Order: sequence, then structure tokens, then C-alpha cells
Amino acid sequence: MKIIIDTEENIAKRAAQRYVELLKEKPDAVLGGATGSTPLGLYAELARLCAAGEISFKDVKTFNLDEYVGLDGSHDQSYRYFMNKNLFEKIDIDINNTHVPSGINTEGCEQYDEEIKAAGGIDLQLLGIGVDGHIGFNEPGTPWDSVTHVVELEQNTREVNSRFFSSIDEVPTHAVTMGIKTVMNARGIILMAIGKSKAEIVKAFIEGPVTEEVPASILQLHPNTEVYLDPEAAALLSK
Ligand code: PGA
Repeated sequence: MKIIIDTEENIAKRAAQRYVELLKEKPDAVLGGATGSTPLGLYAELARLCAAGEISFKDVKTFNLDEYVGLDGSHDQSYRYFMNKNLFEKIDIDINNTHVPSGINTEGCEQYDEEIKAAGGIDLQLLGIGVDGHIGFNEPGTPWDSVTHVVELEQNTREVNSRFFSSIDEVPTHAVTMGIKTVMNARGIILMAIGKSKAEIVKAFIEGPVTEEVPASILQLHPNTEVYLDPEAAALLSK
């Protein structure tokens, strides 16, 4: 893994440059999207670069990591809604080329892996990380060989995410998520983490053992992963 430590603003800019380089080389690249607070700076920077004519997504396809079960794309806490508002409406992408797992029709969701394969596989997958080490909604204990599947969310994950809902009771109990194998199949991966709440898990997934108890630790075995950290998230790393 390559580790990049810089200010929050600079990691967004530096990660965005990876997309500029990739799309210069491969304008019809397949991108894996993520939601949460962490990618917002990167998405704003990609929108700015697109408006400035420095990057174009017109031939790009995207596949997002996950979606809440029970929320359709018009719900303002659905991840489809998040992606539309924070990225897709701000860049020149064809919305028909954007994919987010359905939170309504979850039967056969493992077909999502086949759709990704049919599109040529993911060139660059973006990830955040949960304080428990989850990537997507792959909570601790998720098998390494998992493909897209429905998961029951950990109480802690629901609590962390309840900040976006009016009460914890409104946070869905289940989600559909790409599996660990789906993520590891991506040719390149960018994981971003910001802030001191992530410092312990950042140390664990980078320097600790590769274990299903820390889902992100599998990235130690991925041949092309970059980890972008702000100084607070990187604070406990030993080197
Ligand atoms: P965050 O979420 O970016 O809002 O911290 C990350 C995650 O839970 O994967």
C-alpha cells in the first residue's frame, strides 16, 4: 500500500489528480464510488475540475459500493440520492452509466458483480473506512470471498450514521453492499480517512494483522492501493 499524508484539502486535490491521470489514459474507465463524509472534498474537487474542462466523465461508468435496504433513490438519505446531489449532477456523466445497488429489489443482488464484470471490471474503487474497519458495509467477520450481498448493520454503524437521520429508529437495519471480493477485484483502490476518530482503525488496518475482524486489512494484499490520510487520521502510525 502506498500511504499519502497531507492536509484534508490537499488529499482531496491529490486524489482528484489520480482521476485526472486515469481518465486521460482511459476516458471510458469504470469507477467505484463511495458515500459518507470523507469523499465530499474529493467530489467537490472533481466537480471543479470538470467545470474547468480539466476532466470529463462523459464516457465513464460508475458502480457504487452500497445502499440502504428499504430506501429508494428519491429518499434524501439513500446513497443514490447522495451520489446524484454530490457528484453526478455536478459533472458531465451520463446518469444512465451510473449504478448504485438497489435498496428495494435486493433479491439477486449478487448479479451486481456480473454487471461490474460485464462493464469490464472496476479500474479505480474509492473507499472510506468505518471506525470498526468496515469498507462498504462489510462489517467485521465478513468472509474474504464475499460478493455483493445483504447485511445486517452493526448497532455502532447505525449509531454513527444516525447523525443524518432524525432519530436512530429511522436508520435502516440492513444494507446491500459489494463484498470484499468485489472490492479486491478492482484494479486500483483509493481509501481515504480523515480525522482523529479514524486514527486507531487506520493503524490497525495498515500495521496490524490481515484478519476478517478488520475488513480493511485485506487491502494489505491488494497490489495497487493508495491510502490518503490527513495528519489526524495518520497520527498513530508508527512510521
Ligand atoms: P464517513 O464514513 O466517510 O462518513 O466517515 C465512512 C464509512 O463508514 O465507510
